[in-house]
Amino acid sequence: MPKALNIEDKLFEKLTARQQTNSLRTLRSCENLIDFCSNDYLGFAKNLKVKASEKQGATGSRLISGNSSQFELLETSIAKFHNAEAGLIFNSGYDANIGLFSCIADKGDTIIYDQYIHASIRDGIRLSNARSFAFEHNDIDALEKKLQQASGTILVAIESIYSMDGDEAPIEKIVALCEKYDAQIILDEAHATGIVGENGEGLAQSLNLESKLFVRVHTFGKAMGCHGAIILGSENLRQFLINFARSFIYTTALSEHSLNAIESAYKKAKNSTNEREQLQSNIQLFQDLLSDDLKSKLIQNTSPIQCILVPGNKAVKEVENELQLRGFDIRAILHPTVEEGKERIRICVHSFNTAEEIKSCVESLEELLK
Ligand SMILES: Cc1ncc(COP(=O)(O)O)c(C=O)c1O
Repeated sequence: MPKALNIEDKLFEKLTARQQTNSLRTLRSCENLIDFCSNDYLGFAKNLKVKASEKQGATGSRLISGNSSQFELLETSIAKFHNAEAGLIFNSGYDANIGLFSCIADKGDTIIYDQYIHASIRDGIRLSNARSFAFEHNDIDALEKKLQQASGTILVAIESIYSMDGDEAPIEKIVALCEKYDAQIILDEAHATGIVGENGEGLAQSLNLESKLFVRVHTFGKAMGCHGAIILGSENLRQFLINFARSFIYTTALSEHSLNAIESAYKKAKNSTNEREQLQSNIQLFQDLLSDDLKSKLIQNTSPIQCILVPGNKAVKEVENELQLRGFDIRAILHPTVEEGKERIRICVHSFNTAEEIKSCVESLEELLK
């Protein structure tokens, strides 16, 4: 029998394969570059004023020593802000989705999800005993076909603003369709929290649709500038998650400092109309400055996530490297994160990007992609 590879050799082989397909991921720090890459759409991460905390660590999980009246008051006030009956805070959006999707459906139930759904939801579904189907991105007819094949309790997972394409789900149509098939919607509002709606409540509330949704997930690591997430729904759902969501049960709770930061982010969101308007006008400026040629390669949307398709890992990485050398922190999104042929330069526009920065960014894109 041939001798098995040594574990280190095995890891090295897999990394080498990634290198050969130009898809090796590496960690980089991006000090002193112009930020067209972070999810800090409104600049909260730099500007939140956070109250000092008395205790550094939470000392245990929420079910043991990590709970506090601050946690429960914060959950009640965030639920109220989002017009939900109840909410439960998780340590991150990843934890919220993995915990929710792994426990919310049983064998015999069906989870249907958009093909571009976030990895945290996919991973949660993989841990679930339910059947699952993907439907083509934002395609209502494709969703209906899957709904016709579904059995048991039917759950449909969508995002307000998709993280890699930046486009919105057609929520009104999905709500109408799900009513027809008695399916429950779970909406991930990660990229809409803080920026969509009068006070940053998210896409569902901006369309007055929140009462039609079974669950909403809001994360605090993007426009809210801090860390953590909340799952919103009924009080019954909250009690269920406290009992069955393993990523809630078996982990140390967020610290007092994190809760203070979330509190401060929600206060700031209510007073950030100017930042939200500035963000929209910056997105518009970015699009207005693009030539027709680049516009034809742009994934159409009005969100801060603006993507220009540059097919091929090698080609898109070269553009990324050149943009970094010119002082812009702009990242390439490679296959396998996106489908082969749909590799892209992903530009995240912020409220704090100046008109000059946006102009010089577009000039560089035009030069490099002509
Ligand atoms: C749509 C979506 N859901 C969930 C997450 C995970 O959130 P977090 O970064 O708080 O773990 C992300 C981002 O990473 C996301 O883009």
